Amino acid sequence: MNATAIAAQTAEQSAAAKDFLPLEGTDYVEFYVGNAKQAAHYYMSAFGFQALAYAGPETGVKDRASYAVRQHKLTFVLTTALRSDHPIADHVHRHGDGVKALSLRVADATQAWNETTRRGAKSYMEPKRMQDEQGELVMSGIHTYGDTVHLFIERKNYAGVFMPGYRAWSNPEFAPSDCGLLYVDHCVGNVGWNQMNPWVKFYEEVMGFKNILSFDDEDISTEYSALMSKVMSSGNGFVKFPINEPAEGKRKSQVEEFLDFYNGEGCQHVAMATNDIVKTVRSLMSRGVEFLKVPTTYYDDLLDRVGSIDEDLEPLKELGILVDRDNEGYLLQLFSKPVEDRPTLFFEIIQRKGAKSFGKGNFKALFEAIEREQEARGNI
Ligand code: FE2
Repeated sequence: MNATAIAAQTAEQSAAAKDFLPLEGTDYVEFYVGNAKQAAHYYMSAFGFQALAYAGPETGVKDRASYAVRQHKLTFVLTTALRSDHPIADHVHRHGDGVKALSLRVADATQAWNETTRRGAKSYMEPKRMQDEQGELVMSGIHTYGDTVHLFIERKNYAGVFMPGYRAWSNPEFAPSDCGLLYVDHCVGNVGWNQMNPWVKFYEEVMGFKNILSFDDEDISTEYSALMSKVMSSGNGFVKFPINEPAEGKRKSQVEEFLDFYNGEGCQHVAMATNDIVKTVRSLMSRGVEFLKVPTTYYDDLLDRVGSIDEDLEPLKELGILVDRDNEGYLLQLFSKPVEDRPTLFFEIIQRKGAKSFGKGNFKALFEAIEREQEARGNI
């Protein structure tokens, strides 16, 4: 090994040493919902997830029912309370259906809990060892914005289908094909007025994240609406959490509308990656997923704005797919309408072709599309 290689290795080792919370990626996203059986069906039929595992009274879990569904590396868990006097029922009463847990895969869930609580995180769950005949899974958790939590999942000694308490679940009679959704690209949190920087500090100090991008109200404002956003990334870049807060605009901004209807801070959108956005979006649309539409004039000067791209323009225009470029490449993206009746959680479909950013060039066109929806709801 020459001197340069040794120096590179030393730098890598010291970076790893500094990362006190090495995250291996998103393990699963858990939603608390009013009816988990039907929500699971929706994610399977509309988004192409496959049945994976079930927990409920039949598996010894008496107070709730949970359905885990999977598509490539994306795992969603839909959970509901079985009785009214239960914290999950309270969560649904307060927020409607929404994201409860952004669960992160770690090599050591005890260490993750120790390191984060030592730095000021509020504990949600002390490290808990869960066992069945398939091995042992360790889980711990901390609170983040609103009623949302991060669970740390250590599954290196577990060989079962999902986790102890669950049994394998499948229905050969109903197995919709997948939509090419691959993994969680990023999850965005909406926080209250003047709360973005405190949460940026939380992710920096408690979880060792870095602020890799910032947008202020100059970047993200339309005639009526404004917001500010900072993108937080884990030390190794595997997990990204942009944080939005509302900014002063002429009228109620989309973040305020979310905070109002979610009854507090929470997860605004989950971005799911694909390698073929045209195929994925076509498939999602044919299954009933609804997307925001920008005016077709968006495409008139698109190539002047973003330069040449591999894709044909026509299908992008037909499906309303947005394109943006940064120094490293470009990305294609599209946003769903909210997936519940409250104007709260929605999904982003994203295909990255080198770009590591989040589509800043699309914000204005996009927010104007959101405002048209807000206006139709009478919330602007
Ligand atoms: Fe996003």
